[in-house]
Amino acid sequence: MTSLFPSVRFGGDYNPDQWPREVWDEDVVLMQRAGVTTATVGVFSWARLEPSPGAFDFEWLDDVFARLHAGGIRVMMATATASPPPWLAALHPESLPVTASGVRLTVGSRQQYSPSSSAYREYALRLVQKLAERYGDHPALEAWHVGNEYACHVPRSYDAESIAAFRAWLEARYGTIADLNAAWGTSFWSQGYGSFDEVHAPADAPSFKNPTQVLDFDRFSSDALLALFTAERDILRAATPSIPITTNFMGFFKDADYWKWAKQMDFITDDSYPDPSDPNSYVQLAASRDLMRSLGGGKPWLLMEQTTAAVNWRPRNAVKPVGVNRLQSLQAHARGADGILYFQWRQAKAGAEKFHSAMVPHGGADTRVFREVEALGAELATLTDTLGTDVPARVAILIDWDSWHALEQDAVPTKLSYIEQLLAWYRPLLDSGVTVDFAEAGTDLSAYSVVIVPVFVAATDAALVAIDDFVAGGGRAVVTFQSAVLDERLHVRLGGYLGQLQQTLGVSVEEFAPVAAGESDDLPALAISGGITSGATLWQEIVNPTTAEVVSTFSDGFAAGLPAITRNSRGEGAAWYVATLPDRGGIAELLGQVLAEAGVTGELESSAQGVEAVRRGGTLFVFNHSAVDAEVSIGGSPTVVPAHDLIIVG
Ligand code: GLA
Repeated sequence: MTSLFPSVRFGGDYNPDQWPREVWDEDVVLMQRAGVTTATVGVFSWARLEPSPGAFDFEWLDDVFARLHAGGIRVMMATATASPPPWLAALHPESLPVTASGVRLTVGSRQQYSPSSSAYREYALRLVQKLAERYGDHPALEAWHVGNEYACHVPRSYDAESIAAFRAWLEARYGTIADLNAAWGTSFWSQGYGSFDEVHAPADAPSFKNPTQVLDFDRFSSDALLALFTAERDILRAATPSIPITTNFMGFFKDADYWKWAKQMDFITDDSYPDPSDPNSYVQLAASRDLMRSLGGGKPWLLMEQTTAAVNWRPRNAVKPVGVNRLQSLQAHARGADGILYFQWRQAKAGAEKFHSAMVPHGGADTRVFREVEALGAELATLTDTLGTDVPARVAILIDWDSWHALEQDAVPTKLSYIEQLLAWYRPLLDSGVTVDFAEAGTDLSAYSVVIVPVFVAATDAALVAIDDFVAGGGRAVVTFQSAVLDERLHVRLGGYLGQLQQTLGVSVEEFAPVAAGESDDLPALAISGGITSGATLWQEIVNPTTAEVVSTFSDGFAAGLPAITRNSRGEGAAWYVATLPDRGGIAELLGQVLAEAGVTGELESSAQGVEAVRRGGTLFVFNHSAVDAEVSIGGSPTVVPAHDLIIVG
């Protein structure tokens, strides 16, 4: 593996258009002091670049390019289409998005366009063409940054153009209205359609909406935004074939199917804003880094945005404790990031984000924050051994956007958070220093020794065959409750659920028995005993083993005495079925057995709150995200990792 870039990139969103030119002079000096390699310019500059329709003003941006270039700083040029100027809404009010309740959103904030607006698209693409022509040959240009955080504020719109585009999308998917009716199960509740023109977006309705219609609108909305991205990308690619193109992701983000998006991008970038007041936020943070690496097929990615101290959008905005900015930056690098960038370079003086921290705070350069930025820039420049190297993983967790939507729909057996279920399985692996990739359903899994399949509720037949092939070929799979209950149309897999996985797992499922909350809303605790003895929660069901052996049974509750965990030998491999959510210790114990069978060992011999370890290239990084020193055992020797610090071995 090689890096796209000659050194670890360092820098951030640079918004000089919010400042007078005297400040620009100081900016370049301070960027050089901090070791900034890259400035992301113009993310929200459309109104400045095109103050009235068709009247472009590039003079100021020419100056910015020239100054950065003279200072040896590369430009990640944004296409500036993230937020259209107010004149677009004045000229084309129909370009504004409409909520599910029929409210048309207005100007004065950002991202106020419908994903299917033809006017937005036309004006956005004209601007992109102009930018490509003007800056495509500039020697400072390093990459293109298309849009910004697609779907962040407006993932779906229910305006007339969106409804028309949804109908066209459905026609392309189903061909005939009869096939749509069959897929959506419209004989239920008198929903049969006579033509595509009768179909609507699933806006507010009297009761539960048609589940397949809702999922199709989720899929369509992600595709509509992706089409905007690819339209901009195609213009840029034609003009500058050698300049890589990206848009910034948002970690575990439900409203855009990142497997589809990633395939359209030259490199993956991510924005991350963990809550400094949550002692467990490092877990999801590590997982989101692993997701970004996996989305790019293992290639290095860039952390496009994070912040130095505090954000401004939580009810209470804790500051990152001293050391944590560095710690999380190096965590990203250890998990595959070859760039550490921020929102934003200089903290704003006005506007909605004036209390959001930045690389240069309100206090200027003689501050704790800027000194930490300078030190980090210097340290990142030394990371030449790990730049561009692989982060090897033998374990994968399957993540599937359709299942995410389906699991969290209305009218399901019990409310579950898809990401909480994934993280329940990720956490013990992180605790023992086992590196995890995320895998796409339906792909060849044979590169892994162990694959975890949590709550894979809406599974295609092909994805189930891929899991079975993996197991039969010698892999070890762990499949949880609420997997393969439905197909991709959200039709139930009758006759014991699980489809093809009945053979893989050697079980069928007769009846669900989710655990209901008591008066206090707390879920009653359950227990399982046998090969794995553990607390459990959320779910029970009646599992009927065919060829599987029972590992553990429910000790209590509706399914007392019935199987909770089973193991089935299949071909060269084995597959476990887990009919509940064991507690963290129980999951760790089960995974310990699975990993031992597969010959996978982690980097940490014992786990400790806040501690994680990952190997990139030949280098082992051990992080302590907690506020107290941690003693860990690495390679048999006890080692202290100071609070909010890390050690690098190798
Ligand atoms: C997102 C956006 C930025 C900024 C930050 C604030 O990441 O892309 O423009 O608003 O959030 O946290």
